[in-house]
Amino acid sequence: MSQEKIYDIPADFAARANISEADYQAMYQRSIDDPEGFWAEQAEKFLSWYKPWDRVLDWSYDADNLYIKWFEGGKLNVAYNCIDRHLEQRGDQTAIIWEGDDPNDAKHITYRELHEQVSKLANVLKERGINKGDRVCIYMPMIPEACYAMLACARIGAVHSVVFGGFSPESLKDRILDSDCRVVITADEGVRGGKHVPLKANTDKALEACPNVHTVLTVQRTGGKTQWHEKRDIWYHEAVANASADCPPEEMDAEDPLFILYTSGSTGKPKGVLHTTGGYLLYAAITTQYTFDLHEGDIYWCSADVGWVTGHSYLVYGPLANGTTTLSFEGVPTYPDASRFWQVIDKHKVSVFYTAPTAIRALMREGDEPVKKTSRDSLRLLGTVGEPINPEAWEWYYNVVGDGRCPIVDTWWQTETGGHMITPLPGATPLKPGSATRPFFGVKPGIIDTETNKLVEGDGEATGALVITRPWPGQMRTVYGDHQRFVETYFKTYPGYYFSGDGARRDADGYYWITGRMDDVLNISGHRMGTAEVESALVLHEKVAEAAVVGYPHDIKGQGIYAYVTTVKGVEPSDELKAELLDLVRQEIGPIAKPDIIQWAPGLPKTRSGKIMRRILRKIAENDLDNLGDTSTLADPAVVDDLIENRANK
Ligand code: WTA
Repeated sequence: MSQEKIYDIPADFAARANISEADYQAMYQRSIDDPEGFWAEQAEKFLSWYKPWDRVLDWSYDADNLYIKWFEGGKLNVAYNCIDRHLEQRGDQTAIIWEGDDPNDAKHITYRELHEQVSKLANVLKERGINKGDRVCIYMPMIPEACYAMLACARIGAVHSVVFGGFSPESLKDRILDSDCRVVITADEGVRGGKHVPLKANTDKALEACPNVHTVLTVQRTGGKTQWHEKRDIWYHEAVANASADCPPEEMDAEDPLFILYTSGSTGKPKGVLHTTGGYLLYAAITTQYTFDLHEGDIYWCSADVGWVTGHSYLVYGPLANGTTTLSFEGVPTYPDASRFWQVIDKHKVSVFYTAPTAIRALMREGDEPVKKTSRDSLRLLGTVGEPINPEAWEWYYNVVGDGRCPIVDTWWQTETGGHMITPLPGATPLKPGSATRPFFGVKPGIIDTETNKLVEGDGEATGALVITRPWPGQMRTVYGDHQRFVETYFKTYPGYYFSGDGARRDADGYYWITGRMDDVLNISGHRMGTAEVESALVLHEKVAEAAVVGYPHDIKGQGIYAYVTTVKGVEPSDELKAELLDLVRQEIGPIAKPDIIQWAPGLPKTRSGKIMRRILRKIAENDLDNLGDTSTLADPAVVDDLIENRANK
C-alpha cells in the first residue's frame, strides 16, 4: 500500500471555522451518547417550526416491523424554511445565481424574487387541482424554474419526483406511472453544451402511456417547436403571469413526504426513494452548513444536476435553508472549452465549489493551462461526491485547481441517506487523499466482517461491508409504494443494520476508505446504474438471447459498462447489430446507460444450476486473468477460454 499523505488543516481555515477539531470530537460524542438531545437542539437551531414535535425519534430496524420517524407531531414547511423566513434579513440578497449554457447568459434571483416566483407557481399547481400529498413530476433542464418547481411543490405539500433530463421517454414513463404523478413540469427544450434536448417531445412520448396526467406545464426555454395538446398543455410563463403571488405555506407534519427520487439498485426497476419533511431538511441544512463551513457572503456552487440527490440536498434545499447564495449551472464543464468551470468561478466569485471526481478527471486530462489562465482567488473550499476519488485526481484538484490553499471535502453518501454521512469537516479534519475520513454527527458506521457476517466490535482497523447501525434524520423512510422492498434491500443482508451496498476499510485513525459497491450496481461518472436494467434493455432485441453486464475500471468515468451479449441461434454478430443495441439502450434508459464495450459471447459462464458467474465476467472485463478463481465447477468451462481470447481489454 502506498504511503498515506496527510494534509493538515490550513491555519487561516482553522482560525475561522464553524467547527474546530475539538468541537468535532465533543459534538460527535454527544450526538452518539444522546442522539435525541443532540438532534432536538439542532432542529431548533437550523429550522423554524410552526409547532414543536412530540417525540424526537421513534424507530425499529427490525425487518418485521421496520419504521423510522423523526420529530413526529412537529409542523413545518420546507419552502417557508428555505425562503420566507429569510425575507426580512435577506430579501435583496441573491438566492440563486443562474449561469446559462451560453457564457453570456446569467441571472441573479433574490430571495424576494424567489418568494414571488415560487408562490405564483404554487398557486398555478393549486388551480390545476394539486393538493397536499399529490405527486408532481419535474423533468427539466438546469434553469431556475426547476428550483421554483421543487419549492412550489414543497410550499403546498405536493410530493415532487424529479426525473433527470437525460432519461429517455421510456424511463420517464415508468417513473410517472410508479408514483402516479398527475402533473408534469418540463421545458420545450434543454440546452447543454450548445445542443438542444427535446424535453417536451420526450414528455409527449412518455405520456402516451400515462392517462392520469392531466396537466403539462412547459417552460419556454429555446422557443423550439413542440406539439401542443389543448386542455392538457399550458405554457409556464402564461400561467404564472396570471397567478397571485400570495400563497400561504401548508403546515406539514415532519413525517409527511417531501419528495420521491428514483435510484438504481441491483435488481429490477429503479426504486422510488422517499424522503420526508423535517428530518430530511434538518439533515440537508446541517450538513451543508458544517461540511462546507459556510459563512456570511459565501457564493456556493454545486455543479450537480437537480435530477440527482446531490442537486436536491446541496443545490436547492441545504443551501437555501441556510440563506446562502447558490449557483445553478445549465451547461457542461467543457463548453465552450475546458476552462468553463474556472471561468464561472471567477465570474461569480465562487468561494465553495462541489463537483464529481469524473469531471475532475476529465478536466485533468486537458492539462493545467485551462485552469491556470483563470485566477480562482475567490475559492476557499473544494468538495467531491459520487464515487471514490483516486489520489492522483485529488492531488490535481488540490494543487492545480485549489493552488494548494483549499481543503477538499470528499463526501460519502447516497440517495438513500439524504445527506453527507462520512465526510471531512474542513476546520476539523486533517485530510488523507482518497478517504472520506470520519462520520458526520449522529452517524454511527459499522464494518461487517463478510466471513463471519458479524459487526467488527470497536473502532479499530477493519475491512468489510459498510453499514450504519442507527437512524439519522436524513434517512429515507421507505420505497414509495413498496415498503417490503425497502426492508429487503437494506435491512435483510445484515439484520439490525442499514446496509449501504458499499464496501469500506477503516484505518487505525478511524478514517473510512470507501472501496466501491459490493452489489451489481455500477457507478458510471458518478451516476448509479443497475446491471440488471441494462441487461433487460439488451435482451429486448429479438436477436439477443442473453446478456450479462459488468463494470470495469474506466479512466474518466470511474467505471465503464461492459456487456457480454449472446445472439440467438443462427444470428451472426455484426457492427450493425452492435449499433442497434446501443440505440436500444439509449431509448430504453438514456445515453448514460450505453455500454462502452459489447463483447459477443457464444456462451456465458454458468454454474450447473444455471446462475451466471459474474465474478468471472468481471475479471475478464478488468483483464485480471490471474484471479479468475476456480472455473472447474462451471457447466461448460470452455466458454471462459473463448471469452478470454476475445476480450476487449488486453
Ligand atoms: C458512491 C450520490 C466513494 C457509493 C450522493 C454510494 C461514493 C453511491 C462517494 C451513491 C464518495 C458516493 N466516495 N463512493 N465520496 N459518494 N459514492 O445514490 O458507491 O447517486 O453507494 O448518491 O455512490 O450514489 P447516489
